[in-house]
Amino acid sequence: MSNNTVRTLGAALVMMCSAPGCQKTTQLPPIEAAPLVSAEAKAAGATLYSELCVRCHGVSGWGDGPEALASRKVRVQDLGDPVWQSNVSNDRLRAVILRGGPGVRKSPVMPAFPQLAKNKDELDGLVAYVRSLSRSVQ
Ligand code: HEC
Repeated sequence: MSNNTVRTLGAALVMMCSAPGCQKTTQLPPIEAAPLVSAEAKAAGATLYSELCVRCHGVSGWGDGPEALASRKVRVQDLGDPVWQSNVSNDRLRAVILRGGPGVRKSPVMPAFPQLAKNKDELDGLVAYVRSLSRSVQ
C-alpha cells in the first residue's frame, strides 16, 4: 500500500468518525460502579482479598502475586487493567469468584470460592475491592 493510499484511507476514517452516531473505538464503556456495601463489608472484602487472592493476583491486583511469578504457566488476570475493568460486570465478577475459571470458560488455575456465596455482603465487599484496584480514575 502506498503512502498516499494510507493517507487517503486515514482521512476517510477520520471523516467517517465525525459522522453523527459514530462511535470512537478508543472510548471505553464506563466501568460499572462498585456494589454499595457497608464499611464492614468493604473491610471484609479487603481481608478476603489478601487471604485468598493476593498469592496469585498480587497486592495491587496486577497479576504479580508470588504464585504467578513462580510459574510461567500461570497467567493471572491483571485486575488493575482499565480495559478489562470496563468490560467486566459486577455479576461476572461474582460468577468467576464463586464458580472459578471453568465456570466462566476461563483457566482452571483460577479457583472457585463457593464458600463465599453464603455471605452476600462480604462477596459484594470483595467485588467492590476488585473495582478499587482499577488503575483508571473515573
Ligand atoms: C491460584 C491462583 C489464583 C488465585 C488464588 C485467584 N486467582 Fe483469580 N485468576 C487466576 C488466573 C490464572 C486467572 C486468569 C484466568 C484466565 O484468563 O483464563 C484469574 C482470573 C480472575 C478474574 C478475571 C475473570 C474474567 O472473567 O476475566 C477475576 C475477577 C479474578 N481472577 C478474581 C479473583 C479473586 C477475587 C480471587 C480471590 C477470591 C482470585 N481471583 C484468586 C488465578 C488465581
